[in-house]
Amino acid sequence: MSGQFWDETAFQTLFAELGNIPLYEVYELTRPAVPGELIHGISILHSGIVGNEYFMTKGHYHVVLETSELYHCLSGQGVMVMENLDGEWEILELRPGVSLYVLPGWAHRSVNTSPTEDLISLFAYPGNAGHDYGTIETQGFRKLVINRSGSPAVINNPRWLAPTERL
Ligand code: F6R
Ligand code: ZN
Repeated sequence: MSGQFWDETAFQTLFAELGNIPLYEVYELTRPAVPGELIHGISILHSGIVGNEYFMTKGHYHVVLETSELYHCLSGQGVMVMENLDGEWEILELRPGVSLYVLPGWAHRSVNTSPTEDLISLFAYPGNAGHDYGTIETQGFRKLVINRSGSPAVINNPRWLAPTERL
């Protein structure tokens, strides 16, 4: 996750203090990489803060942009940050019992906004989806979710890089 948080100094300080601790864990049943299969599993995103940014997943597009994903929150509280290559974005709440659909073509990242609890979600996506981490690594998400006086707030990502070239 180095380079993913807005406050890289805070990330490096935390890393130096705590070592290489996992911010999140993913357990999934791998299935053949074909469209008829559903890869599914559980994501456990721990609670914590880097600078004023909540612990979050790295986030990605699917390599096959036409593939979607279903999330169902089992416990905790958080949000799903989503955006697409046309510049649209959406941030939806995750709380126990909420199902959330990530549309085809939308990058997605979950963020744990609880001060104490893990954010635990079930997910399922097509076997052939694949993961493109590079696009988000390079340009980031347009929006960040930060802790402002104890509550989540959405801000523009000051480090967001517009793609220089679109297909
Ligand atoms: C799979 C998916 C989730 C994430 C998980 C970890 O397509 O979206 O299972 O893989 O929440 O997030 P990343 O993969 O962004 O590190
Ligand atoms: Zn995904």
